[in-house]
Amino acid sequence: MAAYSPKVIEHFEHPRNAGEMDAPDGEATTSNPVCGDRMRVMIRVDGERLAEVRWQTRGCPPAIATSSFASEMVAGWTLEEVDALTRDAIAEAIGGLPKDKVHCSVLAADALRAAVADYRRRASA
Ligand code: FES
Repeated sequence: MAAYSPKVIEHFEHPRNAGEMDAPDGEATTSNPVCGDRMRVMIRVDGERLAEVRWQTRGCPPAIATSSFASEMVAGWTLEEVDALTRDAIAEAIGGLPKDKVHCSVLAADALRAAVADYRRRASA
């Protein structure tokens, strides 16, 4: 994995926050239109901030790494901050991705924003 940044390799080899969450406040599953890889995100919300993120990803090494990295990156963020999260912000913060792998960070960005949207739907029901 010579083309990957040290952070990508480290998160792929030692993923954080992977697994299930009991009774999440919001959740979403998204798939990458480019390759079909999938990510499920579960969130716990405290007030207007993300208190906890869990994820399950079936995908390539950068998809696993960006899932793990993003789950740590957004801890404590406001829901509005998550709304503005982009795949490029994740790719840049993790030290860059090879050009043909930048699309892999779309899973984490899309799934986190969708999980926040699901939380808002549940909260307003
Ligand atoms: Fe599918 Fe990376 S090749 S997310």
